[in-house]
Amino acid sequence: MSLQPADLPELEVAWQAAQAAGEILMHYYHNGVDVREKATSDLVSDADVEAEHAIVERIHQRFPGHAILAEEGHSQTEVAEHLWVIDPLDGTTNFLHGIPHFAVSIAYYHNGVPQVAVVWNPAREDQFLAAAGRGAWRNGVQQHVAESTHLNQCLIGVGFYYDRGRSMEATLAAIADIFRQQVHGIRRFGTAALDLCHVGCGYYGAFFEYQLAPWDFGGGRLFVEEAGGKVTTARGTELPFHKDSLLASNGVLHQAMLDIVGHHHPE
Ligand code: IPD
Ligand code: CA
Ligand code: CA
Repeated sequence: MSLQPADLPELEVAWQAAQAAGEILMHYYHNGVDVREKATSDLVSDADVEAEHAIVERIHQRFPGHAILAEEGHSQTEVAEHLWVIDPLDGTTNFLHGIPHFAVSIAYYHNGVPQVAVVWNPAREDQFLAAAGRGAWRNGVQQHVAESTHLNQCLIGVGFYYDRGRSMEATLAAIADIFRQQVHGIRRFGTAALDLCHVGCGYYGAFFEYQLAPWDFGGGRLFVEEAGGKVTTARGTELPFHKDSLLASNGVLHQAMLDIVGHHHPE
């Protein structure tokens, strides 16, 4: 059985909202955008802000009472019964440099448990959908994590937060140890939501990053889990609703990765 947006009301709204945001992003992508720096190397633009407004508007039209946790201003801090976790533009740095590898990420949680997820790359018209118990689907085709049993059979994805201090040093140390496991390669594509989807599609055996926010992983996390993989912090604990590290894998490789990324964990 396939998964269509119309199958579930929350998935339908998430998909419509992702498309609306995608249209806004593509307008700015083609016509240029003013950039501001939130912190060193952490860039934001009108595209992020407008896309977020478009998403929140659509969710609230259909579900007026639902809470929102989104990167550019809607900050629900406690877990609500109905919570939407949104990154209107993941991969801002790629977007601003003209690289068509960025995404809208929208997830709906019920009592803290992810129920539906949409990750949409409008530049490549690449759609990733997941729903609890209904699998992970890319452009209508069901996806599964890699079958690799050893790190020397895989590509590993990594992300760097904007930090140029301890997290960066820890990431570099972990990368060196991962290379020592004779992995096929390490990739840093710059869009955590899509990196997670790449674990779900079986391209990466695992992906890790030492600082990610709930909106970075909200959509991709359910995609990995529904594709048969596992997602925790890089210490092996359950993911919280605040910034923390993240390790996603096909499940089989989780412990081997934890031995490395847990060892180099910055805190
Ligand atoms: C960033 C991207 C990047 C990751 C950063 C995130 P943004 O999100 O996901 O791949 O390494 O940690 O903050 O700022 O482009 O939404
Ligand atoms: Ca992000
Ligand atoms: Ca963002």
